[in-house]
Amino acid sequence: MTTATIFETMDYGLAPESAAEARAWLQERGGIAGHFINGKWGPLRDDFASSNPATGEKLAGVTKGTAEEVASAVKAARKAQPAWGRDAHKRARVLYAIARLMQKHSRLLATMESLDNGKPIRESRDIDIPLAIRHFYYHAGLAQLLPVEMPGHSALGVCGQIIPWNFPLLMLAWKIAPALAAGNTVVLKPAEYTSLSAMVFAEICQEAGVPAGVVNIVTGDGETGAALVDAEVDKIAFTGSTSVGRRIREQTAGSGKSLTLELGGKSPYIVFDDADIDSAIEGLVDAIWFNQGQVCCAGSRLLVQENIADDFHRRLKARMAKLRVGDPLDKSIDVGAIVDPVQHDTITRLVDASDGEIHKAPVAMPETGCFYPPTLITGLHTASPLMQEEIFGPVLVSTTFRTPAEAVEVANNTRYGLAATLWTENVNLALDIAPKLVAGVVWVNATNLFDAAAPFGGVRESGFGREGGWEGLSAYLKSDTKPIACKPLSPPKAPETPEAGDLDRTAKMYIGGKQARPDGGYSQAHYSRKGALLGHTGLGNRKDIRNAVEAARAAAKWGVSSGHLRAQILYYLAENLSARAEEFATRIADSLGTSAGKATGEVDQAISTLFTAAAWADKYDGTAKGVPLRGVALAMKEPVGIIGMLAPDDSPLLAPTTLLAGALAMGNRVVLAPSQAAPLVMTDFYQLLDTSDVPGGVVNIVTGNHADLAPTLASHMEIDALWAFTPHADMAELEKASAGNLKRSWTTAGARAGMPDWTSPDLRPVLEAATETKTVWIPYGE
Ligand code: NAI
Repeated sequence: MTTATIFETMDYGLAPESAAEARAWLQERGGIAGHFINGKWGPLRDDFASSNPATGEKLAGVTKGTAEEVASAVKAARKAQPAWGRDAHKRARVLYAIARLMQKHSRLLATMESLDNGKPIRESRDIDIPLAIRHFYYHAGLAQLLPVEMPGHSALGVCGQIIPWNFPLLMLAWKIAPALAAGNTVVLKPAEYTSLSAMVFAEICQEAGVPAGVVNIVTGDGETGAALVDAEVDKIAFTGSTSVGRRIREQTAGSGKSLTLELGGKSPYIVFDDADIDSAIEGLVDAIWFNQGQVCCAGSRLLVQENIADDFHRRLKARMAKLRVGDPLDKSIDVGAIVDPVQHDTITRLVDASDGEIHKAPVAMPETGCFYPPTLITGLHTASPLMQEEIFGPVLVSTTFRTPAEAVEVANNTRYGLAATLWTENVNLALDIAPKLVAGVVWVNATNLFDAAAPFGGVRESGFGREGGWEGLSAYLKSDTKPIACKPLSPPKAPETPEAGDLDRTAKMYIGGKQARPDGGYSQAHYSRKGALLGHTGLGNRKDIRNAVEAARAAAKWGVSSGHLRAQILYYLAENLSARAEEFATRIADSLGTSAGKATGEVDQAISTLFTAAAWADKYDGTAKGVPLRGVALAMKEPVGIIGMLAPDDSPLLAPTTLLAGALAMGNRVVLAPSQAAPLVMTDFYQLLDTSDVPGGVVNIVTGNHADLAPTLASHMEIDALWAFTPHADMAELEKASAGNLKRSWTTAGARAGMPDWTSPDLRPVLEAATETKTVWIPYGE
């Protein structure tokens, strides 16, 4: 095209970025991407190719890491960790140096990224690379402040990190920066399609003075990833598909490895009829055509209010027709190449199988290369596969709603919960809807905004854990307090001639605020050390757990009650326990044969814990994050939902009270299996719940053998978290079962096995486990 024709037609001219530097960089290094272990390169082998998806041209050969190579990287990281973990200021300086050098090499990084991944250079240059750099700057600061801000915490050790191909360098930054800031060393595996920017990064680490062994990179595919999951690491941090995330949850079950999973989504993009339509359409371009829609939090499900739907779709199609698809290195391109033919085939297959009305943007498409046109699909039923499954391509599905309540219902009708976007000019409506959306991130009148200060991560099957902010940092730290061993106690046995009681002293279970007989009709007797019959408790089964979960589900209002109300109820509970302190002490002493003094101490401590929880109920708040983009990000604390709890044998009052108090303070509902050795303590406790205005269904108590109850709690699809502190269940089995709906689990599994110190006055570990952070981005200021 000549300048004269451009002038005539007013068409775009080409504005290609030169790839010469990136190509020369690869050539100088022999055209092979491979391991960077203990500060050195190698082994380097041409096991498979990394190609430019826009042309199909091979860019480099990539080494497929073996289990032995992974192990040698982990060994180097282990050796380097103690020294690295010791000096926070040094870490801050190194992270800062990395940030500065990334800035210096930003053009090389951006070009390499676009060559290897196919994303438009405009995006890698203006979004991916600057955000990655920002991450290192921000975390240099967190490293510097860590000793003062989070005393009593230290690094986990060696972290295995597995990242996807959609934001190769940015995901690397999200993983490496917080891990290093906290004092960990890392072994990171880039995705098989996109290893090249990680190579440039490794060189930057050498230049920045990162000590050998602190950052190790092992290239390879899923098998290499699986080897890293199995290796002797202390944590796995994974971003990728929900299916692989679930597999990693199963693979790490029982190992005690810390785990964070950032998985897929089908995020709703809601447009109300009073929205600024042009802005909402421009936002949609960023929501679903940014990075060809290969974004975990892509606004891939459009929900538009019915009365504006026709107009909205018409305008959207007009905008789609103006999108430019083509050479990712051309600066005037909007939509680049799909990462690999495999992904292209998946998108094609999913769209071709759809029975909706398919509208492909009538745009000029490159004749060769891995490109897919921007696509809109309407007329789908909410249950249709394309409304539910992640397509991970430039394909938007659309449906309509009539009322705000219906918008929320449709938006939340998904197994995922990563992000949501809403557009309205009505601030009341926006701030009414945002809390109702089940998502880890909500954008109001904007979309796909990210920042190092703003926690990012999902709920439900979008995974668990947050990246960014102090919240993200804490996922790379552990408390220095020693865990307590979780040991079985043998309760007193029946005397040779058991007491014949004419009075039925069977304590019922407590479900939905009412006493309930066990479904199976069986009960067991409990005796004191002196052989006196203390009473019977029911032997609960699967059905009882299911009833309890149903009752908990019906008590959802507790989750939106005010902290002030919950505080009052917890104080009241403490007051009522105090009034019956002696009786509870006797019960504990009788059940376990402990001394009266010890039992009284336990009751006093439980009262104090209830006070602590009441105190926190209206103070364990979120924070406003100062993000450098258009507003603030509110990191709000939300309850996790329904928590299944298994209490230890000992501390039969204090342990469950601590867990319950923390959970209730934050608005959770609970299904509790009390101490198997001394369940009568907690069946007495429900009389207190009754008299303290705890609404029915908020706490449900099912007695019985933990070996029977635990598997149902772990596998139940409507339980959101599992807190298992029992010696009577196999933690590996429980964690494996919890992978079904990707429950957050807090268990005694692994080498550092143990329970929190129930006598500690610091309830924050419980409060942290009882909450999720929802980050709500709102316009504020200029
Ligand atoms: P993937 O989940 O298989 O790959 C992500 C990373 O995990 C890569 O580094 C890969 O090598 C590694 N990996 C694969 N299998 C593993 C295993 N068994 N153990 C440990 N690591 C393993 O994603 P893939 O196959 O590249 O893409 C398939 C689909 O996954 C996409 O179509 C998309 O729907 C989804 N996806 C979601 C992402 C997100 O950010 N939520 C990112 C990438 C893919």
